[in-house]
Amino acid sequence: MVTTVATAPIAGQKPGTSGLRKKTRVFMGAHYLENFIQALFDTVGAAGKTFVLGGDGRYFNDRAAQVILRMAAANGAAKVIIGQGALLSTPAASHLIRLNQTDGGIIMSASHNPGGPDADFGVKFNMPNGGPAPEAVTEAIYARSAEISSYKILEAADVDLGRIGETRLGAMMVEVVDPVADYADLMQSLFDFDAIRALFASGFAMRMDSMCAITGPYAREILENRLGAAPGTVTHAEPLPDFGGMHPDPNPTWAHELMAEMMGENAPDFGAASDGDGDRNMVVGRGIYVSPSDSLAVLAANAHLAPGYAAGLKGVARSMPTSAAVDLVAKSLGLQAYETPTGWKFFGNLLDAGRVTICGEESFGTGSDHVREKDGLWAVLLWLNILALRRESVAEILSAHWAKFGRNYYSRHDFEAIDSAKADAMFASLREALPGLAGREVAGLKITTADDFGYEDPVDGSVSRQQGLRLLFEGGSRAVFRLSGTGTEGATLRLYVERYVAGPEGLDEDPQAALAPVIAAAHALGAIEHFTGRVTPDVVT
Ligand code: G6P
Ligand code: ZN
Repeated sequence: MVTTVATAPIAGQKPGTSGLRKKTRVFMGAHYLENFIQALFDTVGAAGKTFVLGGDGRYFNDRAAQVILRMAAANGAAKVIIGQGALLSTPAASHLIRLNQTDGGIIMSASHNPGGPDADFGVKFNMPNGGPAPEAVTEAIYARSAEISSYKILEAADVDLGRIGETRLGAMMVEVVDPVADYADLMQSLFDFDAIRALFASGFAMRMDSMCAITGPYAREILENRLGAAPGTVTHAEPLPDFGGMHPDPNPTWAHELMAEMMGENAPDFGAASDGDGDRNMVVGRGIYVSPSDSLAVLAANAHLAPGYAAGLKGVARSMPTSAAVDLVAKSLGLQAYETPTGWKFFGNLLDAGRVTICGEESFGTGSDHVREKDGLWAVLLWLNILALRRESVAEILSAHWAKFGRNYYSRHDFEAIDSAKADAMFASLREALPGLAGREVAGLKITTADDFGYEDPVDGSVSRQQGLRLLFEGGSRAVFRLSGTGTEGATLRLYVERYVAGPEGLDEDPQAALAPVIAAAHALGAIEHFTGRVTPDVVT
């Protein structure tokens, strides 16, 4: 029986960089999830449609799935394809949306944010192309959430999501699918599994830290079962509602167990970690951390070694704060390189239009046109494919890369949970100063350009302004100031610093030391301590 429940708008249901993310308890509050889902269905339409549904297994994932299923049925959806146990990694959801030519999908995740009753939850809508909804759609959902007065829900018992197969929920079909199989097949179609299997068989050792999040089952199936990596290669492989207390963000700070192992005496040849919903990745060689910007460049330069990319790339794209290392690769390959604002959704049009094949961001995201999300395991497998064919270590591959292209020293410094008013004041002050900065010298560095990054999408002409304050220095160094769009507490200031060294000298410095002058100039120009009281970053990538 369909019930119509009276409700009233709840303030703040505005999706950010990647869907609506709130404290779990907020999502569990009366009508909160229901209002948002109704606003979503009202906006995109549900009648007669087929959607994919799944999440990263965090706390409330299972309950939210049952609510969304009953609301989809009440709103007239024809079918929902859902991962067994309501699980799906974000890239796997994107793939299922495309594979089954559905009308979109709902992904339950707060990505790399911690999970649990006192942590974070999130809901995001992806379009029929498999990619995150563009701003026009999320804005419309938000607008609808501000005027909602009722929602529809079916009164029914829980669907058994543990059993693969089809069941009916009212008039709607629910198809419970293996969350891993189709995705694993897709990976097998892109990469040289024989070569990777031979690599593992030759004694190559790997550690994959799934951080008690969604990639555990995927990594076990692909790396251990299909590719023959030693059992136990994947650690923290069981997705847990609170991620076992881990903060599933694959960066040197949060993936410290992996970092310690990779920097230790008995380090395996290759290490990787992924985030809560499986779209991010960090890769590490024995004794050497690979910055995401370098990873993107190496992947672009070597992608032709994988069968799925043997014909070459159409073009590459990176977010503005990502280092220009991949641009240098593109130039040498004669490819177009695009620079977009932060947020995977900005790659969607370029991928759909066939302008780019590989994209990446400094925020540990890399992916290609095989889905419309960044894809953690995809990046890990492309690295493995490259390692399997080149038979060099990660360190050797990086050294050779820098020797050929020069090195873009790069780091991101995060200052978390800053009082929002203080962060806004800092940005207002720096933004106001921008027009007068060119030509000035600060901390020994001469500013050549200072601007607020804006982007005009070359495909649909849409314009996004105020995407980050850029300070470019003589010699190709730069500092970028941006406020995170994904935090849930106060403001997070991200300071991105980059310095290019052409080589052959100076390619093996410690990045923080190499970047010290740029960091000093950025602190001086942004008056970070003055406005925020902070000097030391909480996270350094
Ligand atoms: C999410 C998005 C990415 C983005 C990242 C950083 O992971 O999918 O595309 O780069 O957040 O966002 P933030 O606004 O926190 O820097
Ligand atoms: Zn994620």
